[in-house]
Amino acid sequence: MPTMPQLMKERPKLRYIFTGGKGGVGKTVSAAGLAYQYAANGEKVLLASLNPVHSLSSLFGQDLAGGKVRPVEGTKGVYAVEVETTEVVQKYRESIKGRVKEFLKWADIPLDAKPFIEIATTNPAFEESAMFDRMVDYILKEGEAYDRIIFDTAAVANAVRLIGLSKIYGLWLNRMIESRREALSLRVQLSFRKDKMTEEVKKDPLMADLISMNERFDKAKEVLVDPERTGFFFVTLPLGLPIAVVRRFIGMVGKFNIPVGGVIVNEVLRQEIAQMAGAGDYLANKYQEQLGYMKVLYRDLGPLVTSYIPLYPSEVTGIDMVARVSEDMMSYAPAFASSLASGA
Ligand SMILES: Nc1ncnc2c1ncn2[C@@H]1O[C@H](COP(=O)(O)OP(=O)(O)O)[C@@H](O)[C@H]1O
Ligand SMILES: [Mg+2]
Repeated sequence: MPTMPQLMKERPKLRYIFTGGKGGVGKTVSAAGLAYQYAANGEKVLLASLNPVHSLSSLFGQDLAGGKVRPVEGTKGVYAVEVETTEVVQKYRESIKGRVKEFLKWADIPLDAKPFIEIATTNPAFEESAMFDRMVDYILKEGEAYDRIIFDTAAVANAVRLIGLSKIYGLWLNRMIESRREALSLRVQLSFRKDKMTEEVKKDPLMADLISMNERFDKAKEVLVDPERTGFFFVTLPLGLPIAVVRRFIGMVGKFNIPVGGVIVNEVLRQEIAQMAGAGDYLANKYQEQLGYMKVLYRDLGPLVTSYIPLYPSEVTGIDMVARVSEDMMSYAPAFASSLASGA
């Protein structure tokens, strides 16, 4: 079981890092802790929030809203962006609109584009597709300027679904390209010479569009399934439900060949505090409960645990606390960790 420092050494090229898990378990806190750690080593790190509701501003205690990348004050090289969902969705809708209109014009179909655009842009997956597309931008283009990109993604299944979408898109796009090619070749056979085919294809805006979209998804997928460059960290609390969510997640990413970085266990009660004289039954019971769940976690996911973060007396806000999270992620080992690991 690699600890976080070991993992960082073993996988130095880990460039795209994701945090996933149930809502409220500490995904944003963990993402920030990792970003802080890599930056402390002298790197330039982009921390990108792709959530409908952002929390980077309140976490760092500074204004990071507005959809622009900004340096995080008080860190050596952390840059952060809170990607605006409405803005991304709007832009994506415009580009789809342009495509549909262009296609109808090119194909000489005298139909109103509106209903087509409505269907394409009001289905429930549209927002997710738009955000996925934005993430791909960071991976393939804007991320160039950074040593690492840490994506803080929306709660529960969202993150994995986003990536799963790329597989479905790939299949869909391939099918579209195929049928487009068939239609074209029929047209060419009827009215053109065969050697005009390439020229015809170039003139078909939908075909060109589909091919470039497909290339883009292929490139993104290549990155997302590469264990050298990509790692998905799952955050959990020592509690039943969040552990079940992580277990389910790990099964899902496995199906898509998405590489796991590790499991981060957050809000661990310190034994010395829980069993301190005068701590009372409440904390002692809570500690026993956590121990029970830690056994379950070890049984199911033990080899994947890379980090523990203790439960702090207050919520995590401001640079000093992010620095503390970062340090604890690298070094905190609760008392039970070694005995559980050795099977005692
Ligand atoms: N180890 C911890 N100790 C105390 N408070 C924590 C700890 N980890 C997270 N929190 C607090 O819990 C809340 C949820 O954390 P957050 O990272 O925003 O969760 P998520 O991104 O998974 O929804 C925040 O208010 C955060 O400050
Ligand atoms: Mg969050």
